[in-house]
Amino acid sequence: MTKLAVQMTGIVKKFGEVVANDHVDFAVRAGEIHALLGENGAGKSTVMSLLSGLYRADAGGIAVHGTSSSIASPKDAMKLGIGMVHQNFRLVPTLTALENIILGERGEPWRGNAWKKRKLAQVDGICERYGLRIPLGQPVWALSVGEQQRVEIVKTLYRGADIILLDEPTSVLTPGEAEALFQTMRELKDTGKTMIITTHKLKEVMAVADRISVMRKGRMIASMDAGETDARNLAELMVGREIREREAAESGHAGETILEVSGMTVRSDHGHDALANVAFRIREGEIVGVAGVAGNGQKELAEALTGLRGWTKGSMLLQGERMENAGVRRLIDRGVAHIPEDRMKSGLAGSLGVVDNLMLKTYRTGKHFRFGLLRNRANVAWGKGLAERFDVRYAELGSPARQMSGGNQQKLLLAREIDQQPKLMVAVHPTQGLDVGAAESVHQMLLGLRDASAGVLLISEDLDEVLLLSDRVFVLYGGRIIGELPKAEADKERIGRMMAGLEDAEVAAQ
Ligand SMILES: Nc1ncnc2c1ncn2[C@@H]1O[C@H](COP(=O)(O)OP(=O)(O)OP(=O)(O)O)[C@@H](O)[C@H]1O
Ligand SMILES: [Mg+2]
Repeated sequence: MTKLAVQMTGIVKKFGEVVANDHVDFAVRAGEIHALLGENGAGKSTVMSLLSGLYRADAGGIAVHGTSSSIASPKDAMKLGIGMVHQNFRLVPTLTALENIILGERGEPWRGNAWKKRKLAQVDGICERYGLRIPLGQPVWALSVGEQQRVEIVKTLYRGADIILLDEPTSVLTPGEAEALFQTMRELKDTGKTMIITTHKLKEVMAVADRISVMRKGRMIASMDAGETDARNLAELMVGREIREREAAESGHAGETILEVSGMTVRSDHGHDALANVAFRIREGEIVGVAGVAGNGQKELAEALTGLRGWTKGSMLLQGERMENAGVRRLIDRGVAHIPEDRMKSGLAGSLGVVDNLMLKTYRTGKHFRFGLLRNRANVAWGKGLAERFDVRYAELGSPARQMSGGNQQKLLLAREIDQQPKLMVAVHPTQGLDVGAAESVHQMLLGLRDASAGVLLISEDLDEVLLLSDRVFVLYGGRIIGELPKAEADKERIGRMMAGLEDAEVAAQ
């Protein structure tokens, strides 16, 4: 008989009216990589939180390595050898990587140098053993996202975890970093560790998982060996309907120029030029994709175009009108929409409910506001309808957005931005964290905007997505556009080489 590392039986977890886990049975074998899949809001993170002691179940039981266990706190979970790699890393930015890893150890602040040296050797040994490269002496704020994630992993290992939970670990990683993470996971498996991972990227699942379980609407609906299934079958199991094969969208019919950028120079937070002398155009009815590894100016590009960051040089013509440094308000009035990279920081107001978030940019207009008052009844009806059209699922209309599942937060944001019927949409990682069904509807929405003659700038690290939707693709490297390719010539290998700075294509005449 195979040994089970984790066995959940009849688990029920409710949040008010919402049944997040509805009599869930879930078995994970010792030493396997088990992928937990499901639509946005299916209840995956809830399962992870129950196992790591963040929440307590309303009913049901959990056995760890065959022993019935009560997990009432993260400390209890740790004692049972369960460690969680958090998606929003819980590290102290001003402490070094090493200090973060040993943080909370008894008497740690008072120990001397000899002790610290011993700890360094011990942690170094763990890193060495699993091939985890981390600059242990650097403060965490100076580390890349991938490195910070490795710190989180080493932290769980240092504390003796042998069951490691990873909730959407790759949604914040570049493709290269994700590959490195999978390599680490395979090495962890070779030493007998058990891992549970959630992700929406089915290719990743097929690449790394031994077994797969699928949840739908709070229920566990299937468990299988990875060898028994494929990405298409999984997609259908998750959303309960057939998912169309993704194939490149038909090109749009480009019209007049909507946006013309020239000589764009923008500083980063650190004060150096994040973008230098960038020039491009976007026409009506066109999706222009920006490919590139994060940190090559994408964030600054999106912010400068939407008024969140100042320009040091250059000009921005929006339908013929000078708009560089015009400010957020004026850009919104002129029809610029924005799906930001960090939806909780600059997209949604976490403490507000569905309707208020939908009105966030337009509450001052006559539609929502009349005779000095918000038109509450009309606004609620409007908000409900809009949420329904975009398939935003929520517990109660008024519950704070931060309690919604990640994918539903993203859909809420999209509903608001697309409903404005923008002239220009700046979309950054628009399908990050979305399930396959929702990602497909977002793609349809962006194509719909294009067909309604908007111009779309699509910034994404998902090269498949960029190639699928874009009429033209340019590659950003080191703050410059190093190549531009029309749809017909945009192939993955070539763009991949440009993204790594290995090939410098002639910038095609526009
Ligand atoms: N703290 C909370 N308070 C209220 N409702 C919650 C809370 N956490 C989760 N929920 C609700 O429980 C349900 C399941 O959420 P969960 O986060 O487990 O989904 P998920 O499968 O992880 O989704 P996603 O893929 O979008 O991350 C959702 O309807 C969500 O809104
Ligand atoms: Mg989740």
